[in-house]
Order: sequence, then C-alpha cells, then structure tokens
Amino acid sequence: MTDDGDEGDGSDERGGGDDTERDDLAARRGLDDVTVYQPAEDSGLLAEAAVAEAHGRVLEVGTGSGWVAAQVASERDLDVIGSDLNPHAARQARERGVEAVVADLLSPFRADAFDAVCFNPPYLPTDPDNEWDDWMEHALSGGESGRELIEPFLADVGHVLAPDGVVLLLVSSLTGYEEVLDLIDAAGFAADPVVEESFPFETLTVLALRRA
Ligand SMILES: C[S@@+](CC[C@H](N)C(=O)[O-])C[C@H]1O[C@@H](n2cnc3c(N)ncnc32)[C@H](O)[C@@H]1O
Repeated sequence: MTDDGDEGDGSDERGGGDDTERDDLAARRGLDDVTVYQPAEDSGLLAEAAVAEAHGRVLEVGTGSGWVAAQVASERDLDVIGSDLNPHAARQARERGVEAVVADLLSPFRADAFDAVCFNPPYLPTDPDNEWDDWMEHALSGGESGRELIEPFLADVGHVLAPDGVVLLLVSSLTGYEEVLDLIDAAGFAADPVVEESFPFETLTVLALRRA
C-alpha cells in the first residue's frame, strides 16, 4: 500500500489465493487494522486511465478513500460522484472533498445519469470458507470466482451510462481476463486496454468499455 496520493512501486500487488496469503497481503498493505481501502498501484492505474478517458458526469463505483475520484475531479475539472457500500469509505471520500454516497453497486442511480463510470472492483478469488466478515473482505474479495461483483456491475452499467458513455474497469489476471472479456461482450460492450502493468503475481489492465 502506498501513502495517500502516491502510486505504488509495484512491489506490493494485491495477490490472491488463500486466507494466509490474504492476511499477509493485508498486513503488508497496512490494511489489517483499517476499514477503508487506501490508494495502491491499482488505484493509480485506474486514475491514470480515468484522467485520460473520462468526460462529462463521472461516477466512481467503490470509491474507497475517494483518491481516484479526487484525481479525476482535479486533473480534468469534471463533476465526480463516488459511491461505496462501506459507509466509512463514503465518509472518508467526503472528507477528501468528493461528493459520495453509500450504495450497493449502481442501485440508486437513474438511467443515462453518467458519461463515465469507473470501477476498481474487489477481485481476489476467495474460498467461501475463508471469507472475512469485515470491510476489507468487501474491498478485496470477489467471491469464489473473483468476478462476483464484476458480473452484476457489467449487467447493470449500461442502464446508468449515457449513449456515448465510457466505462473504465480495472481487471486483474487473477480474476480471469478472458472470462471478464466474455462478460463484457455479453453486456454489449467492446473493450480497449488503456493502461496495463505487470507485477510479480498479476497483470493489471484498465479497459475502456464502449457500446459495441
Ligand atoms: C479495491 S477497493 C477500490 C477502492 C478505490 N476505488 C481505489 O481504487 O483505491 C474496492 C471498493 O469497492 C467497495 N465495494 C465492495 N462491494 C461493493 C458494492 N457492492 N457496492 C459498492 N461498493 C462496493 C469496497 O468497499 C472498496 O472500497
């Protein structure tokens, strides 16, 4: 984990696998005693892509600390809203100056509300027997497949997106890149990689999704 506002150096990737690996990862990132995911290399990649590609009204789903949303707002002078299931995250984002709401994925937002939707999802494949029952589990775990948040997000994001809108989605090789591409295709989007970086245990890619 990096300090707020810094991008990572790639040495502390999110990793994956069993509860021991996840505990180690959480400890390395200083996440074992915090309730809100702090900016790391994945956050930095999403911010880089969003600054390059976002336009108009922007939503960051799962905003965590609000750092990505704040980068987009300040670098591009755009209206950005953050949302998160975790009320501690929404509060931290607001303290950073980001308008933020507590929400489950896209549920409260109206049709065509946004020109850009950004998401760095919880993506670690996690054995159901090893799930943590805390806010860091919600930040890191993508369920057994790693795609349990990505699937409903992709199924619904077209509803809130304006006709010429763009979705910026961070995908890890740990989550199954080809499987995510299949979900994107099934949702009616075409995907182009915007930024990509490889770390010892995973490759992170931010895809720009536009209606096919
Ligand atoms: C990997 S963290 C990313 C945080 C931040 N966007 C960043 O890049 O630093 C994933 C975030 O998604 C949030 N989250 C998990 N499940 C969610 C859901 N169903 N709806 C909204 N946010 C959710 C978590 O609380 C966490 O803040």
